[in-house]
Amino acid sequence: MKLSHVVASLPLVGAAAAVGMSRYTPAPDVEPTFASYLKELYASAEDPSAETTFIDFFTPTGQLLVLGHVATGADAIVALKQQLLPAAGTKHWNHLPNATTVDSETAGQKTYQVLGVIETRFDGGNCSQAYYSSRFTVTKDAAGVVQLTPHTGSLVAYDDFVVDPPESPTHIPCGTI
Ligand SMILES: *[C@@H]1O[C@H](CO)[C@@H](O)[C@H](O)[C@H]1NC(C)=O
Ligand SMILES: *[C@@H]1O[C@H](CO)[C@@H](O)[C@H](O)[C@H]1NC(C)=O
Repeated sequence: MKLSHVVASLPLVGAAAAVGMSRYTPAPDVEPTFASYLKELYASAEDPSAETTFIDFFTPTGQLLVLGHVATGADAIVALKQQLLPAAGTKHWNHLPNATTVDSETAGQKTYQVLGVIETRFDGGNCSQAYYSSRFTVTKDAAGVVQLTPHTGSLVAYDDFVVDPPESPTHIPCGTI
């Protein structure tokens, strides 16, 4: 068999984003639907060319925050995303969320905290990982139900407040727990 055939059959090769939910552990007060919301949000974040399918998660004044860098609104969010994950597609992300809890809640919003590992792989380079802590703030409807349907403009903030180590690539090989 030609090498190209072998490579083509490897599931991790190609454009498809790979969100790993096997370590996902939600607290009892996290809605079951948050799992599919988070998975779809990460899949859109991991797609280098995704613009609309990432932006449509956010409210019109939604914010993407990464280690204190704040992007508000569609254009700024796309710019920050492409700064971190070039649209050319030469860098790849794989999110592996684990402990997920409710951080805070008001009548109009609910904020979830998600811990996990992010794997980064560059074409022709190694696969290295970092540990993250994020908070996701989602709107509630008039009845007080959290709006956890993906791509429906309900995400107020996506805040990566810890990424350790912050550089990319890191010195930690993928697969390290
Ligand atoms: C979950 O992720 C956090 C933050 O990245 C990490 O410190 C922790 O070890 C992970 N927990 C498990 C059970 O994998
Ligand atoms: C990955 O490559 C970078 C740059 O060559 C290097 O600094 C880093 O230590 C490597 N990480 C791993 C886990 O091998």
